[in-house]
Amino acid sequence: MSEATTAGPAEGKPLSLWLATAGATDFPQLQGTVEVDVAVIGGGIAGLTAALALKRSGRSVAVLEAGRVGTGVTGHTTGKVTSLHRLAYTALERSHGADAAGIYGKANQAAVEHVARVVAAEDISCGFRRVANYTFAGSEDALPQVRAEAELATRLGLPAAFTADVPLPFPVAGAVRFDDQAQIHAVQYLQGIAARVDGGGSFVFEGTRAVGLQDGPSVRVAAGNGTVLAAEAIVATNVPFGDHGRLGALCPPHRSYIVAAALDAPPLDATFISADEPMRSLLTAQLNGVTYLLTGGGGHPAAEHVDPAPRFASLAAYAHSRFGAGPVAYRWSTQDAMPSDGLPYVGPLNPDNRHAFVITALRKWGLTNGTAAALMLTDLLNGTPNEWAPLFDSNRAPLLPGPAAAGHTTADSTPDGLENSPDDVARQMADLALGDGKVIDAAGTSMACYRDQAGDIHAVSAICTHLGCTVGFNREDRTWDCPCHGSRFTVDGKVIQGPATEDLPPHPAP
Ligand SMILES: Cc1cc2nc3c(=O)[nH]c(=O)nc-3n(C[C@H](O)[C@H](O)[C@H](O)COP(=O)(O)OP(=O)(O)OC[C@H]3O[C@@H](n4cnc5c(N)ncnc54)[C@H](O)[C@@H]3O)c2cc1C
Ligand code: FES
Repeated sequence: MSEATTAGPAEGKPLSLWLATAGATDFPQLQGTVEVDVAVIGGGIAGLTAALALKRSGRSVAVLEAGRVGTGVTGHTTGKVTSLHRLAYTALERSHGADAAGIYGKANQAAVEHVARVVAAEDISCGFRRVANYTFAGSEDALPQVRAEAELATRLGLPAAFTADVPLPFPVAGAVRFDDQAQIHAVQYLQGIAARVDGGGSFVFEGTRAVGLQDGPSVRVAAGNGTVLAAEAIVATNVPFGDHGRLGALCPPHRSYIVAAALDAPPLDATFISADEPMRSLLTAQLNGVTYLLTGGGGHPAAEHVDPAPRFASLAAYAHSRFGAGPVAYRWSTQDAMPSDGLPYVGPLNPDNRHAFVITALRKWGLTNGTAAALMLTDLLNGTPNEWAPLFDSNRAPLLPGPAAAGHTTADSTPDGLENSPDDVARQMADLALGDGKVIDAAGTSMACYRDQAGDIHAVSAICTHLGCTVGFNREDRTWDCPCHGSRFTVDGKVIQGPATEDLPPHPAP
């Protein structure tokens, strides 16, 4: 079955349910110089989990978050906290062997328990619920894959079983079930962690984008109006900066879509993902007295230009036909870095770095992969042996070639070798609809042009400030997105998501 290809305007508010229902945070911007043991760059699941674990182990930390904590990829997640990652064990055994699959499972299962412990020990109110998690075969075709995953996961010592008894309101062929997994309101979880990190000689700074990192006997992180001096630094910005694009090239971003619609039923005690294509990821949650069904899927490499409306419509149709869900209340999409060899990267930022570390490529399972990675780095920085860390070593040789990154251009720019005349440029600008954007090549440079609702043109350079790829227009979010390593910019060129740390400069009118 393929994704729907036609749809009217997408329903619902274009906003993550989690961000819509979380309170606000108000940590200050960094001003001046702060000295701590560890600088943590990025206030998502990876960075904040590491910051709290390091603080609880006796280290002082400063978290630098470009926006608000929890509003990055983690604020747009589905919310499953589980070591069952669809059919990951079968794939990992094939590519890396059974031992590696077992370590991946141990690390992620320990991460589930770490989240549970943090919620209890730190008394964080975040809708944490123990649920079973299922990968189901919607058809007989997918049944052998599901059986194989259940058998392998059981052999690896994970809390797995094959079952034909799947608590979905429509018939399926069978499933692998992991017991005692969990779900959370990830934004509330991170806000709770941030509140506990801040204070007692440790800090959380918001609205503070790190723009430079110098490794040496100690680390110096430059950010806006201030500097953090630290013994060590962790770059947990989802896609890192400061690695010269090495990791970004091995882990291309992949985008997915979620709709949340009200259900006239209590939440289920389980979360689900289909083994069949098109993949569907399902979770229910009760928020402000309403039960919402989250339906996710429609994923594609972020480099592909895709109209999101049919993706959202297809998810909404599934929620309605399979669960009787009402109209879509919220819809959103986000992207995560996907490692070409299936394993996150955790360890030194660059092979020669001694004090700068990285967490990236959480492969759309970052609530546990990011938690496990944070625990690995906490051990590494504290000199404690960690049995999982060698598998995830950020300096490992790539198992599979990464995609070529540099020189990528988006579909709507002028083909190589063709130069637009001034008249062509003027015509293309005039043809831009209200609220639409296009990359137009003019006088040897690429211009990212957006026409706002008042009809005014906003023109910025289309050359991504990370490593020089050409950005493309995202019509759903009205942003300029880079296909290479996932940087995203507003229509006025301001960085929304790294690895870029510098804005797209304004482009002079041609
Ligand atoms: C649609 C979708 C659904 C998903 N569902 C699940 C799920 O159910 N369960 C699961 O385990 N995983 C899920 N994932 C994956 C998971 O959400 C991510 O892997 C995880 O949230 C990534 O966390 P992070 O800390 O790497 O990134 P982020 O949450 O993005 O945190 C990085 C932070 O760094 C900040 N930052 C960036 N650059 C700078 C800079 N230069 N200076 C300062 N700050 C900076 C950003 O603002 C951001 O807040 C899903 C992913 C997708 C795409
Ligand atoms: S070139 Fe790397 S994100 Fe744009």
